[in-house]
Amino acid sequence: MTKSYQIIDHQFDVVVVGAGGAGLRAGFGCAEQGLHTAIISKVFPTRSHTVAAQGGISAALANMGEDDWRFHFYDTIKGSDWLGDQDAIEYMCKEAIPAVIELEHYGVPFSRTPEGKIYQRPFGGMTTHYGKGTAQRTCAAADRTGHAMLHTLYSQALKNRAEFFIEYFALDLIMTDDGQCLGVMAWDLDTGALHRFRAHQTILATGGYGRAYFSCTSAHTCTGDGGGMALRAGLPLQDMEFTQFHPTGIYGAGCLITEGVRGEGGYLTNSEGERFMERYAPSAKDLASRDVVSRSMTIEIREGRGVGPKKDHIHLNLMHLEPEIIHNRLPGIAESARIFAGVDVTREPIPVLPTVHYNMGGIPTNVMTEVVTSTKKNHSEVVPGLMAIGEAACVSVHGANRLGSNSLLDLVVFGRAAAKRCGEIVIPGSPHRQFSGDDGSKAIDRLDRFRNASGGTSTAHLRDRMQHTMQNHAAVFRTAQTLNEGVALINECFAARADLGIKDRSMIFNTDLVETLELDNLLGQAVVSLHSAANREESRGAHAREDFPERDDKKWLKHTVTWVESSGKTRIDYRPVTLTTLTDEVEAVPPKARVY
Ligand code: FUM
Repeated sequence: MTKSYQIIDHQFDVVVVGAGGAGLRAGFGCAEQGLHTAIISKVFPTRSHTVAAQGGISAALANMGEDDWRFHFYDTIKGSDWLGDQDAIEYMCKEAIPAVIELEHYGVPFSRTPEGKIYQRPFGGMTTHYGKGTAQRTCAAADRTGHAMLHTLYSQALKNRAEFFIEYFALDLIMTDDGQCLGVMAWDLDTGALHRFRAHQTILATGGYGRAYFSCTSAHTCTGDGGGMALRAGLPLQDMEFTQFHPTGIYGAGCLITEGVRGEGGYLTNSEGERFMERYAPSAKDLASRDVVSRSMTIEIREGRGVGPKKDHIHLNLMHLEPEIIHNRLPGIAESARIFAGVDVTREPIPVLPTVHYNMGGIPTNVMTEVVTSTKKNHSEVVPGLMAIGEAACVSVHGANRLGSNSLLDLVVFGRAAAKRCGEIVIPGSPHRQFSGDDGSKAIDRLDRFRNASGGTSTAHLRDRMQHTMQNHAAVFRTAQTLNEGVALINECFAARADLGIKDRSMIFNTDLVETLELDNLLGQAVVSLHSAANREESRGAHAREDFPERDDKKWLKHTVTWVESSGKTRIDYRPVTLTTLTDEVEAVPPKARVY
C-alpha cells in the first residue's frame, strides 16, 4: 500500500456506490434486512440526478382506465426495438405494481385523482391491448416526481440506519486475481483521507455518462463513474451504442422539458406551424417513442422547416392548455421555460431540440442484478461480489430505446431486487476474504498519477474535445463516415490522457483532480460507445444508421459486449438477446415491424 496517504479501513456486509434512486432503494433494502450497509456518494444524496426526473414512474395500476402489466411488457419490448431481454422486462413490468404501491406507503407525495388514487398520465409508447389504445400509466408527482421519490427514499435510508459516506468519491474496485470484487476504494473530498471499504457485495448505482456529450439533460455529476471502474477492472460494458436523445431539451440550455407536457396535450410544430408528428407516427403522433420523435424533429430541421432565425430547432406548444393544468401538473416546466428560454408558456411555444438524456447501455447484469461477464445466453458467469443497478447497469430492460417513465421504475424495481439478492446470499457479519492481487494500491497509484500529472493538456480542454466528438459523431443519425471519424478522434482523446496536466496537488476539495478522474471515467465509455456504434451495421432504436436504414434481425438481434484496455485497444463480442419469458404468465413477443 502506498505510504504517503492516510488509509482508513471499513468492513461492511454491503457497500452501495451512489445515492440516487437505485442506490438508496438498494441500500435501505439491505439495511432493513439486518445487513451492515454503507452508501457512498460523491454528492449529498438529495442532490443526486434522480432529483431531476420530472414526468413520472410507470406501473399498470389502472387508476385512470384499463391497464395490465402485460400491456406494459409488450410496450417496453416494442420500445426497445426487440433488443430488451424479455425475462428482465417481464420482471420489471410485473414488479412495477407492488414497487409503486410500496413507494406510496413510504410517503411519496404523488398527485391524486379526485377519488384520491395516484394520478397517472399518458407517456410515449404506452398503450393498452398491445398497441391499440392509449394507456395512462405514468404515476406522477406533478412534474417533480424524481424529487419527491429521492427525498422519500433518503428518509427511508436514514430510518433503516444505512451508514452514509457523503462527498466520498469512489476511485476503483478492489478485485482479486481470480476476478472477485472485495470492495471499493474511495476518497473523502473533505478531509483528503482515503478509505478502503471491504464488502461481501459492492453495488454500483452510479448513474449514466451523459456528460460524455456536449449538450445533455444530465447533471454535471453524471460521469459514469461505475462504468469507468468496471472497465478498469477488466469488465465489459454492454450496448453502449444506444444513447437516448430526449425530444424536448430546451434549445441552447439543454434542460429537460418533460414528455409529460405532450402527455397532457402539448404538441410539436415546425416553421410552417404544422403538427408534423402526424406524418411520421399517424397513430401515436407526439407520443410516439423518443427515438422516433427525435429523428422526426431532426429531419424537419434538416429539410429547412426548423424554427428561429437559424431554423435549427422546433416549437413545443402548450398555450392551449388550461392554466389550471399547467399550474397543478406542470409547474416546474413553466418555471424552467421562463428561466432558461425566457418564455411564458401560456402565451408562447418553448424552443426545443433533441438532447442527450439516457444511456441504455451499461454494466451487464442478470435479472438479480449480479454483474456478468459472459457472452453466453442466460448470463451464467457472474462476477462474485459485484452488482449493478439503475442507469449504470444494462439488465437489459430498455434495449435499443427506453420508454419515458421506465427509468424511475428500473431504479426502484432493480434497487429492490439487489437488496433481495443480498438478503439471500450475504451472511451478516461473516468474515471477509483476504486480498489477493490488489489491496487497493492500484486505485491509489492511479490517483497519484493524475494528481501529479504535469503535461500540457488541461482537463477542461480534453473534456471539450471528447464532448464535441461525441456530439458530432454519435448523434441522432449516424453513417460509417461519421462514426469512423469519431472512432479516430475519440482514440486520440483517450491517448491524450497521458499529456494531462493539473495545477492543484492538494487532497482537500481538489475539484481539478475530481474532474480529471471523472473525465477518465467518461473517456473509457466514450471510446466503447463509438467503437460499438461503428460496428453495428443496422438501424435499431436510438442507433439510426443512414447507410443501414433497416433493422436486421438476422445479423444484429444481439447485444454488443465491449472491453477496453488501458492502451485504448477495444475488444467487441456479442451475446444473444433473451426472447423468452421468466414464467408462463405472459407470452414472449417475437420481433416484428415497429410502427407507431
Ligand atoms: O420526460 C420526462 O419526464 C423524462 C422521463 C424519463 O426519462 O423517464
